[in-house]
Amino acid sequence: MPSKSASVSSKVSIHTWQSKKVHGETITMMTGYDFPTASALDRSGIDGILVGDSLGMVVLGYDNTLPVTMQDMLHHCRAVARGASRALLVGDLPFMSYQASTAEAVRNAGSLLQKGGMDAVKLEGGRERAAAVRAIVSAGVPVMGHIGLTPQSVHQLGGWKVQGKSAGAARRLLEDALILEDAGCFSIVIEAVPGELSQMISERLVIPTIGVGAGIGCDGQLLVAHDVLGLFDRFTPHFVKKYADLFSQMRQAFGEYIDDVKARRFPAPEHSNSMDPQEYRDLVREIEMLEAELESEENHSNRLH
Ligand code: KIV
Repeated sequence: MPSKSASVSSKVSIHTWQSKKVHGETITMMTGYDFPTASALDRSGIDGILVGDSLGMVVLGYDNTLPVTMQDMLHHCRAVARGASRALLVGDLPFMSYQASTAEAVRNAGSLLQKGGMDAVKLEGGRERAAAVRAIVSAGVPVMGHIGLTPQSVHQLGGWKVQGKSAGAARRLLEDALILEDAGCFSIVIEAVPGELSQMISERLVIPTIGVGAGIGCDGQLLVAHDVLGLFDRFTPHFVKKYADLFSQMRQAFGEYIDDVKARRFPAPEHSNSMDPQEYRDLVREIEMLEAELESEENHSNRLH
């Protein structure tokens, strides 16, 4: 059932997002990694789809996002681009695709647009990414920043912890956000920080902020689709609101299929194809004649031996 806000069918751009911030309209975003999810999100009227490297965990089964490669990202970006024509599509730059050199960052960012069909890219980090952001933006690629809990630095952060809890850490994140805006980011994801801080940052930035586990004060909200749908059963962060329990429904459906197959209830006549009765009778007659011929040839050769 499309949401009431799904009436506009024109393509969402980074300028649409900016205008939403100016007019106080909340931006809606969710991750998507494949064709059917992208189609459903797009038709529901979502403003942005993030092909996040979280796909490494929720789709590919890794413990964290570090093993995800550019090839993985391009594969999933293309599937999403085929499924969505309206939402702003943002592709995540995976670990080590932008940190080693600015030139590599520009090339990989360009690839997500040129080969992956994305409209923009996202990268993690604050002031240390300013040069990469400037270079990518100069190449004509819109960049979304990502501060707070940055999963590609999970080992440096010492785990999946809320960031910016002390006054000093919070101030540093605010500075990072201002530096990223100055470097040319069109938007910034703020992940797992106290609500007071994300609100303070959102009020001080001109560009829209998108919160994930960052309270109500951001200009938009983002969640991982597999968490929202209850498709990822390993753990659910406390800031997620689960709108469905598809993992249980999948198990139930697969269990029923297995039972039906074992009990020979599936396939039923309506799931099967059958021949025209006359064609079937002709076939039976032809086979009977063929078998009779073969039998007579066999009898003949036995007599000769
Ligand atoms: O990879 C991802 O899905 C993300 C969001 C959770 C911010 O980076």
